[in-house]
Amino acid sequence: MAAAVKPLQVDGVSRSFGGVQALYRVSLSMEPGERRAVLGPNGAGKSTLFHQISGMDRPTEGRILLFGQDVTGMAAHRRAALGLARTFQITHLFPKLPLLKNLLLALQGLDGMKFSMLRPLSSYKRVLARAEGLLDEWQLVDKRDVAVQDLSYGEQRQVEILLAMAQEPKLLLLDEPTAGLSPAETASVSGLIRDLPREVTILLIEHDMDVAFDLVENVTVLHSGKIIAEGSCDEVRGNPLVQEIYLGKKAGWTQAVEP
Ligand SMILES: Nc1ncnc2c1ncn2[C@@H]1O[C@H](COP(=O)(O)OP(=O)(O)OP(=O)(O)O)[C@@H](O)[C@H]1O
Ligand SMILES: [Mg+2]
Repeated sequence: MAAAVKPLQVDGVSRSFGGVQALYRVSLSMEPGERRAVLGPNGAGKSTLFHQISGMDRPTEGRILLFGQDVTGMAAHRRAALGLARTFQITHLFPKLPLLKNLLLALQGLDGMKFSMLRPLSSYKRVLARAEGLLDEWQLVDKRDVAVQDLSYGEQRQVEILLAMAQEPKLLLLDEPTAGLSPAETASVSGLIRDLPREVTILLIEHDMDVAFDLVENVTVLHSGKIIAEGSCDEVRGNPLVQEIYLGKKAGWTQAVEP
């Protein structure tokens, strides 16, 4: 039987900014349905890696493949059309508008791309039904008329994930979905990520090792732009280099990530 097409292959990707080597020959690949975390301290290159995958930036060397297709030179919106979504930044929303309106605007954009031939009214009705369905599914119905800026940080993160999932992606990139959240909000957003459909492949950047290990089966550790460890959660947790750098007495993980 032929091997399943890999949702993501990062092949020897480097990215430098002037003298700063943000990524150096990074390679990783993901299997369909896999959940993997990218861990590493501030400045390790995690967001830069996401930008290469999503198409917001281009590598100085190496290739990115999505679903078996070389997308290294491809624009971000075309990568999205292949089935890639990343968390929608809440700052790109309309903070003063109610949640439902934001959702409608985002879905209309998606709908317009997919069904531009259909009549506007039927298209709007379908989008409205979809938005209401999503709010119901995500238990946000009672927040539909609340301005996005008045939602809690936890709810805003939930909306970011909701908007990414509304694109029905096959590969989802989450950049620090629990950053800045209280322990209770972190638990709630983690639960939501855990319950996402298993067929969606998830690549997650996370500072908090415990949160990451709770959500994924595999981990890639970046340090100064290079992969220093990779494997299952247990393998990475037991890796002496990772322990030395992040779990050692002097440089606990939390201290290591603080600027
Ligand atoms: N556009 C840019 N111009 C110049 N340097 C950049 C740029 N983007 C990133 N860098 C540098 O590349 C390195 C990696 O940055 P990156 O943002 O990828 O780290 P990170 O792992 O996401 O960190 P954090 O945990 O703080 O989000 C850093 O030294 C950063 O200063
Ligand atoms: Mg970052």
